[in-house]
Amino acid sequence: MAYHSIAARPIAGALGAEIEGVDLSLPLDNRTWSEILDAFHRYGVIFFRRQNLTPEQHKAFSLRFGPHQRVPFVNPWDAHPEMIRVVKEAGDRGVRNFGGSWHSDLSYLPAPALGSALYAVEVPVHGGDTLWASMGAAYAALSDGMRRLLAGLAAVHSPTAAYGSRGRYVDQRLAGMAFDTSDQPDRETVHPVVIAHPATGRKCLFVNGGYTIRFAGQTEAESKPLLDYLNAHAVRPEFTCRFRWSSGTLAVWDNRCTQHFAINDYDGSRREMRRTTIAGAAPRPA
Ligand code: SIN
Repeated sequence: MAYHSIAARPIAGALGAEIEGVDLSLPLDNRTWSEILDAFHRYGVIFFRRQNLTPEQHKAFSLRFGPHQRVPFVNPWDAHPEMIRVVKEAGDRGVRNFGGSWHSDLSYLPAPALGSALYAVEVPVHGGDTLWASMGAAYAALSDGMRRLLAGLAAVHSPTAAYGSRGRYVDQRLAGMAFDTSDQPDRETVHPVVIAHPATGRKCLFVNGGYTIRFAGQTEAESKPLLDYLNAHAVRPEFTCRFRWSSGTLAVWDNRCTQHFAINDYDGSRREMRRTTIAGAAPRPA
């Protein structure tokens, strides 16, 4: 599709584009919306700088992609229960940040998130960038033999390592966030290892280091060598983009074909983001 209402400026070879020519605080006409949706599918993650969004305007734009999804384990923002606030205070030194490992949002649910919309309220002078990786590019770079092997595999996803009793967020000290680990952190979900993107049909690798714990029908020890290989392969630099935030930027990513990683390199500075999460469907095998 050629764009007339927006301009898309790719920021890397595999995924990611900055979108210009749109004010997201205003209602969108149909042509502008269809171009934004096309760019979302084409680039996997899209960025809108210089936006000035109230939470209501953020939610209204996010709803164009689909209904909101509650994020398990993370207490919602009191004022806007459809949102979470992702905050690391200047005083949160030596503390694990939220989203600081490669992951695909809510892959431990039977219906993982379609995507997320993250708005930067306050960002450090330097640091606090986010990385995304294209799971379509990662799959496309696999050998035919590996693709045949993966075609028959499913994998188990679990939130335990993040939100279980010894999970990485349980003893965290992030002053600005609260986690509720009483919400069945031991549940497990099985998804195909290779999925077909529901809009584009593109084959995508669907395992991630944050939540995928083993292949279905195998032990963790049996799964580890191949899972480690796939997790390392999935985030090879040429499949990634790195985004330098400025306050007033909204990023929207497609969780079905990307993973992301929030870099924790800004101790002593404050970073505040607001996120809506967009409800998705059960992934279907490719
Ligand atoms: C997340 O995983 O949603 C957090 C991403 C970020 O803070 O950059």
